[in-house]
Amino acid sequence: MKNIIEVKNLTKKYKNTKAIDDLSFNVKEGEILGLLGPNGSGKSTTINCILSLLNFDSGIIEIFGKKMNTNAYDIKEKIGVVFQEVAVFNELTVYENIDYFCGLYIKDKIKRKEYIEDAIKLVGLEDFKKYYPKQLSGGLLRRLNIACGIAHKPKLIFLDEPTVAVDPQSRNNILDGIKKLASEGATIVYTTHYMEEVEILCNRVIILDRGKIIASGTNEELKLLTKIEEKVIVEINDLDEKYINDIKKQNNVDSVSYNDNNLVIYFKKGKNNIVSLIEYLKKENIIYNKIYSMVPTLNDVFLELTGKELRD
Ligand SMILES: Nc1ncnc2c1ncn2[C@@H]1O[C@H](COP(=O)(O)OP(=O)(O)O)[C@@H](O)[C@H]1O
Ligand SMILES: [Mg+2]
Repeated sequence: MKNIIEVKNLTKKYKNTKAIDDLSFNVKEGEILGLLGPNGSGKSTTINCILSLLNFDSGIIEIFGKKMNTNAYDIKEKIGVVFQEVAVFNELTVYENIDYFCGLYIKDKIKRKEYIEDAIKLVGLEDFKKYYPKQLSGGLLRRLNIACGIAHKPKLIFLDEPTVAVDPQSRNNILDGIKKLASEGATIVYTTHYMEEVEILCNRVIILDRGKIIASGTNEELKLLTKIEEKVIVEINDLDEKYINDIKKQNNVDSVSYNDNNLVIYFKKGKNNIVSLIEYLKKENIIYNKIYSMVPTLNDVFLELTGKELRD
């Protein structure tokens, strides 16, 4: 598959701190690439460098096979950007905002009208066309921000944390819209610190920490990086320390934590983990409310690689 973006040895410093540290990666045609990392890991800086909105210290950036720079208008017109901060005009209605941004690229009025309607439909703002931004909830405002960034049907789309602080309904709407854009042929770079989102959305994920790539691959490939195969969670009230220590010593157990009446047991590769655990609880007459098993998440991968949680 063709590379739409090539980033080679990108380094960006702010004074003495390296926000981006020798980053190299590609984005392939038609994929949704997730840039996953905690706050401050360098996601926005990476995007802003790729877009030539920020000067960087070293590295090469190519988009559509050509070197990107501030004057590369032929490249820029094929790109759509949805920035982390909402950037719309408060004096214009929903429809007029989208019309304004789309009009920067699409001069033909009939075609533009069609594109605006498509964008409104994609983000589900049909009932709000005449509303002003101030009249919209946070989630709807985010949807407008997205519609403004993608209405001109760009081949390459950057979305920088588009779902931060939105309600679940808007979040689902946004994620569905992005999937639709990809199915229509757009290549997408999506940044987030929510690992659940990259699991649902992205074909490939790059995990960033302190401006460096700490892991990359498909969700499945990333999960193979952890030595944990299964997480078992048991709700038990006031469990005695002695049992926790007992469980720690059992077969395949990697580690155990007990907080807020939730016992979490991380198992290494192996079979029948939950069965032997239930047998143990029975034997010791330990009463539990709920027991369930989970496969590891990207948060577990992040935790194992960096020693800290993805969430802040
Ligand atoms: N304008 C700036 N001046 C100084 N430091 C900055 C600036 N913008 C970002 N940084 C620093 O660069 C690092 C990466 O920031 P950023 O790219 O915004 O991360 P993310 O988008 O992943 O939250 C952080 O340590 C941040 O504090
Ligand atoms: Mg950011």
